[in-house]
Amino acid sequence: MTEYWYPAIADRKVPRRKGVRRTLLGQEVVFFRGKEGQVVALSNWCPHRNASLAQGKCHFAGTITCPYHGLTFDETGEAKAFLGEGARSRYIGRRGADARSFPTQTHKGLVFIWMGEGKPSPIAEDVPPEFFDPKSLVLFSQQRWKANWRPALENLQDSHAFYVHRNSLEVLSQDEHGLNLLLHMGPERPPTKIVNGRALVFENTRFFDFQDSQQKRKTNIERAEFQETYPGLGGAKFPRTKVRLHLSHVMGFLRRHLRQERDWMVKDEEWSLGVHLPTTFRFDYQTHVYSRAVTPKNADESWIFYYNTSYPATPLRRLRHRLNYVLYYDWKQHRNFSGQDKRIVEEISYKEPQEKFSSSDAFPLAYRLLVTEHSRKPDAD
Ligand code: FES
Ligand SMILES: [Fe+2]
Repeated sequence: MTEYWYPAIADRKVPRRKGVRRTLLGQEVVFFRGKEGQVVALSNWCPHRNASLAQGKCHFAGTITCPYHGLTFDETGEAKAFLGEGARSRYIGRRGADARSFPTQTHKGLVFIWMGEGKPSPIAEDVPPEFFDPKSLVLFSQQRWKANWRPALENLQDSHAFYVHRNSLEVLSQDEHGLNLLLHMGPERPPTKIVNGRALVFENTRFFDFQDSQQKRKTNIERAEFQETYPGLGGAKFPRTKVRLHLSHVMGFLRRHLRQERDWMVKDEEWSLGVHLPTTFRFDYQTHVYSRAVTPKNADESWIFYYNTSYPATPLRRLRHRLNYVLYYDWKQHRNFSGQDKRIVEEISYKEPQEKFSSSDAFPLAYRLLVTEHSRKPDAD
């Protein structure tokens, strides 16, 4: 899926006087600063003799100079001077002397890149609306997973959460309702639909409600008792103890006394609970919106971007939200919780010839269908 805007790099990671190199969608890209200070991107290999532009310097505003023979490019990739040959160089203006440039846009401190063959689509079709909303606070983190982008994204609304995350701080700090939500739903999954050909969401976009003690009436799915009995295991129970259940009562007590204001934050169905093309997973926690966006690095590695969106009403709340993110949330959600996914996903053999799906894999399967049937193709422009 090349014909999309993808998150690429934090604006603050790009220095003033030199470039920085990143592998994105299997290509080497150099980021540096344009005339206005904005982050711009070129193909990293110098068209002259393929030196790495990321080793070069930015001697003149809005340019980068190749470290080898000094070919100097502006932010559009046009070769402007050949410092090694001097001002009389006949190379400038020659066909093929320019470097390929990639369109970029920076929103909320995050640089997005278009690496498609076709004309760039409107960025708001690919990037969540809060990035264009002056009132929102969007905090983000970036990780690198040693996994192909598809398995990196596909651990979605299937049956893994109950098992993989059972000892995460996120699960252990839930109250009774939260724990009930994270309990397995059995083999069924609620129905999904495709919105505007760009997103796969649950028909009831609000069934995942941590506040609601009666979630099952929203999904018509019976939830399991905390411990279930497995005849195939000689009647053994799993989970093997009720420790987590007891803990959830304590957490419920604490949470009721530390209650934060909550309300649904995502108004636009297209960006609600589900996954949006190309690779953004969304979850409205009512205190913040959680998103996970995957940018393929190459066939075997992925960049994972986490967005945390909120709408703090006062500067003090803004500060509190930021501090909480830096000191606690980023670790709790993206290292402790998602680290459990990372550990599994990095070892998945996605090149195996076949998988044998269960009914609870309906969501990742529906996502594959969304990609095959609805993703933008280069020739569609
Ligand atoms: S390789 Fe870049 S100037 Fe020669
Ligand atoms: Fe997970």
